[in-house]
Amino acid sequence: MPPTLPELNSLFAARHSCRAFLSDPVPRTVIEQIIETAQKVPSWCNAQPWKLTVTSGAQTEALRGELLRAADAGGHAPDLAFPTGYSNEYQDRRRTCGWALYEAVGVIKGDREGSARQMRQNFSLFDAPHCAIISSPAELGPYGAMDCGGFVAAFTLAARAAGVASIPQAAVASFAPMLHQHLGIGKDRTILCAISFGYGNPNHAANSFRTERADLDDFVDWQD
Ligand SMILES: Cc1cc2nc3c(=O)[nH]c(=O)nc-3n(C[C@H](O)[C@H](O)[C@H](O)COP(=O)(O)O)c2cc1C
Repeated sequence: MPPTLPELNSLFAARHSCRAFLSDPVPRTVIEQIIETAQKVPSWCNAQPWKLTVTSGAQTEALRGELLRAADAGGHAPDLAFPTGYSNEYQDRRRTCGWALYEAVGVIKGDREGSARQMRQNFSLFDAPHCAIISSPAELGPYGAMDCGGFVAAFTLAARAAGVASIPQAAVASFAPMLHQHLGIGKDRTILCAISFGYGNPNHAANSFRTERADLDDFVDWQD
């Protein structure tokens, strides 16, 4: 029997983006089970366009080092263009979740150094012991990215069911040229995002807030 909707809802409700990890590694068998679960999502023509480059141990440390160096050097060069803007309710939601994070970690409005320090945590992968870089074949374009988005969401949920915390990170994809070179990802693939994962640190302030969701009436157009 598949899980009931309330059971599934409780899994979804229990997941959140983790921004402080413990150093303990996740056993390879558990990572494999998470990926095998996530790969059950649908994709157009069942192309399953996702590929993952998964780091552990010294390879995660090396990636962290490269990302921090790239962040210090500057130069934002994602394969997939970042949004050109967030307007209206999207801007409101973006601000609300940003301030919830800053408030949780004690960064007050106007503290540019503090917000830069928190932003930089992206490039140390929030101290996660593992990182999965997600890429899609360039020739599949936005539909490949769409399929991979489903995979990313499923990965985070499957991880939660396995007791593993995670966070998708577009910020990491800012440095796509370095990622292609450092991780040996072909130029025929579009690097979409990272998922940092491991066991969450429940006592860290960055993990102390939760985001909210809009009311259905705000985004569903019922045409009965
Ligand atoms: C594609 C994608 C990219 C994201 N990139 C980042 C990121 O670079 N840094 C970050 O701190 N959070 C990132 N997030 C996490 C979102 O901020 C988070 O999912 C959102 O605020 C909702 O919160 P929740 O995941 O805790 O429910 C990303 C999420 C997604 C799905």
